[in-house]
Order: sequence, then structure tokens, then C-alpha cells
Amino acid sequence: MKRFLIAGNWKMNKTSAQAVHYVKELKAQNLERPEDVAIIAPFTQLEPLKKALEGTGIALGAQNVHYEHSGAFTGEISVDMLKEIGVDYCVVGHSERRQYFGETDATVNKKLKVLLEEGITPILCVGESLETREKKQEQAFVCGQLAAAFEGISLEDAAKVVIAYEPIWAIGTGHTATPEQAEEMCSFIRGMMEGLYDISIGEKLLIQYGGSMKPGNAKDLLSKKDINGGLIGGASLKVKDFAEIAHIAAELAE
Ligand code: 13P
Repeated sequence: MKRFLIAGNWKMNKTSAQAVHYVKELKAQNLERPEDVAIIAPFTQLEPLKKALEGTGIALGAQNVHYEHSGAFTGEISVDMLKEIGVDYCVVGHSERRQYFGETDATVNKKLKVLLEEGITPILCVGESLETREKKQEQAFVCGQLAAAFEGISLEDAAKVVIAYEPIWAIGTGHTATPEQAEEMCSFIRGMMEGLYDISIGEKLLIQYGGSMKPGNAKDLLSKKDINGGLIGGASLKVKDFAEIAHIAAELAE
């Protein structure tokens, strides 16, 4: 049976009241495999969402974390704070955070470590810019991001990390990577992780694709061998579209 994780990254959208309403509507969609679904929400919505999602089987995730447990880091949120709420996942190294908020390969590595230590599953984002792809350097680029992110992390821990391949040129642009382009990179990532660690890690890893995934293209993308789900931005904001993608994954999982 193929494994999937369909995660909706809401980015900086929705108020808490809207988030709770969304869950009410999502419940009415009768997801076949809620355990394969996660909502990745802004910090202020995590607590109300945790309550709203109780008993649904749907997981909850944060969009960022600081790598220190506490201290003088105004505006930041620690892993202990996330743990207290009971989040299952935390996104690390999203390209928007790398681009606008100074996230680096070094901070990504520290964040992965603190999350793994505390038992929250990281969703690690990697992906190249259009310029890098045009120079045909996308594999070397992603390879560098992965090597830096996993430095000093054991095989056992690395196998728990969800890796999301999000080509920057496909995020929010409507220009989805073709299923072939997405599969090529996800397969490359699996191979690269097998090389970095051990052949045994390949079958354990969940590798998502992200970038303009929507109901109309989800089946072709999710049918690919090395794509275990999606990290979905825009389309996850609409309950029907998000549920439709989850239905497609559930059908493919069988
Ligand atoms: P879009 O689905 O809006 O392209 O966003 C993808 C993404 O960045 C998810 O993390």
C-alpha cells in the first residue's frame, strides 16, 4: 500500500474563527483516510485547531519553530510551546522563509535537530529557483540543501523526516512542475538520501511535491512512484479542493 501525506500549508491566511469553521466543513467531506491528512496553520490558530480536530484523525502542524528552547528571541516560538499544544508536524526551511526571513541551511539543520529530539515530525522543504533550473543545476542545488539539512542527524531520525520538494518557480504561480519533472526530482531525493545514509532509508521516507497542486493535477502527480503526497498552499484554503486532493490520494493508496 502506498503511503501519503496530504498537508495543507495555509501560510499567513485565516483567523482562528475561520480555521474552526474550515474544520467543521472538512469533517462533512468524510475523508476516507484522515490519518493521511494534516493542516499546517499559523501559530495563533494551533490551539483552537487542536480542539476542533479532536477525534477526526487529522494531524496538525506549525509552519516554523526556533531552534533554541527559550530565550531572548522576540517574536519566535519554541519547540516546547509547540509540544504543549500537541502539534504533530512542523515545516522547516520553506522557500518563503528562506527568501524573506533569513532561513539558512544552518538554521534548517538546527531546527530539524530540535524537532526530532522533541518528537515533532519535521516537514523539510527543498527546491530550486527558476534560474537554477535553467542552468540545469537543480539536482546539485537540492543535493546541497539536503546534505546541509541532515548534517549530524542519525539514520533513525532522518527516516522520520518528511521531505517536500517545492520548486520555487511552481509555488503560487500556477506553473506546476510536470508529473515527470516532479517524479524525477523526488526519485533523485530518495536516491540521494540512500547514498547519504543507507539503502534502507529509501522505502521509509515520505517525499511530497509542492507547488500549485490542485484537484485537476493531483492525480497525475500523486500517481508517480516517488511522490508520497503534497504540500498544498493555495488549493488547501478551499475545503472542497483540499478534500478532493485527499480523496484522490486515498483512492491511490489502496
Ligand atoms: P501553492 O500550492 O500555493 O503553490 O503553494 C505551495 C507551497 O508553498 C506549499 O508549502
